[in-house]
Amino acid sequence: MVKPRKILFTEALESVLINIWGGTKDHLDDSLIRKTREALVEIRGIYRFRGDFKGKYPSSIQYRLPRNRAGYLAAFGQRHAYPAYIHMKKIAAIKPEAIPQPDKKGKIVVTVVGAGAAIETYGVCLFYNENEQKIHRLQLNLIEKESAWKPNRHTVFEKLLKGTFPKLDIIPWDIDIDLTKDSISKLANDYDKIRETDILLIYNVLNEIHVNRSRIVWKNLDFILRTCAKPLLILVMEPSVPKARPRVDWLKKQLVQYSDLILDEGEEEISFESEPFMIKLEGTNLGLNDRLFGQSMDGGKPILQKSVKRTHIACLLKPHSPVTMEQVDTQLKKLQMKRGKQGRFIKDKINKSFWEIYPSSIDTV
Ligand SMILES: C[S@@+](CC[C@H](N)C(=O)[O-])C[C@H]1O[C@@H](n2cnc3c(N)ncnc32)[C@H](O)[C@@H]1O
Repeated sequence: MVKPRKILFTEALESVLINIWGGTKDHLDDSLIRKTREALVEIRGIYRFRGDFKGKYPSSIQYRLPRNRAGYLAAFGQRHAYPAYIHMKKIAAIKPEAIPQPDKKGKIVVTVVGAGAAIETYGVCLFYNENEQKIHRLQLNLIEKESAWKPNRHTVFEKLLKGTFPKLDIIPWDIDIDLTKDSISKLANDYDKIRETDILLIYNVLNEIHVNRSRIVWKNLDFILRTCAKPLLILVMEPSVPKARPRVDWLKKQLVQYSDLILDEGEEEISFESEPFMIKLEGTNLGLNDRLFGQSMDGGKPILQKSVKRTHIACLLKPHSPVTMEQVDTQLKKLQMKRGKQGRFIKDKINKSFWEIYPSSIDTV
């Protein structure tokens, strides 16, 4: 049995925050802690009131700004790391056969939509490897429009995933696209990577996309779904506040039509009160949560939130049945027929292969 290395989640998260601020030390100094606290209060405000008070809260979040990325991860990083674990545990209890099994080399392929720092991948690793090393290689296809996340995401893999699961190989692949634009040709470039996907994660991204963009977002997602060649576990988890619901409900409706529904929760409060996903103050004055949410700083202190309300869905999509060799054969034979004098199709009496007769078809078939 492979024991995960004992690294505190908050210790790894602190490395990511340092990376975002461009710091060089092992810990955030007082000035960076202060900046992070301010950023996290600001981002909570944006999430809560965005679009409501013109001028005060922007309607969309500019993740290219370090303070927004730091604020986001300080506010939500820990709470967004565990839901994939909880989601998969639920599925394992209801429909264990829907859980993808690693291939012979112990590889699982996960495509993450709206990846950001890809913190949700931690939950997937924890699910598979918490007791024994079930996966050895994690291939990640990371779909994201904001490239500023890339170095931070690298720190998530390096510190959080490798720190907890040292024997796990992480193979990341960036797919830089905007889902609200026609991105089919870019996605097609990564066809080989996408088609291997076992799990598709859509977490906390639809909430950022106005419902009037749903048609084009669906066009892109549908291309991904059609590309996938293996049975695909699709997990969607998004904020459940009334403002956000139309932004996710359209996708739920689409998925229900195309796949087998495993789970569908309108709203669930997920609590992080027990191991292995407990969120708490460390009580040492040194831990990240103590410094971000404790009394040690002057001024108002942000509250350490230990739950999250989400709407979620899980479904299984069987791949479109691939064309069998028999079907290809039959098709070729039909093409070798030529119309007979009596108006019937008869076999062409030629020994040449199809490709020799129709060389130009090589490019078009
Ligand atoms: C709130 S973050 C979620 C990050 C991560 N999935 C999580 O659960 O913590 C949303 C991410 O989706 C990205 N995003 C938003 N709209 C997008 C779009 N149209 N195309 C691609 N990515 C988008 C944002 O840049 C951001 O990184």
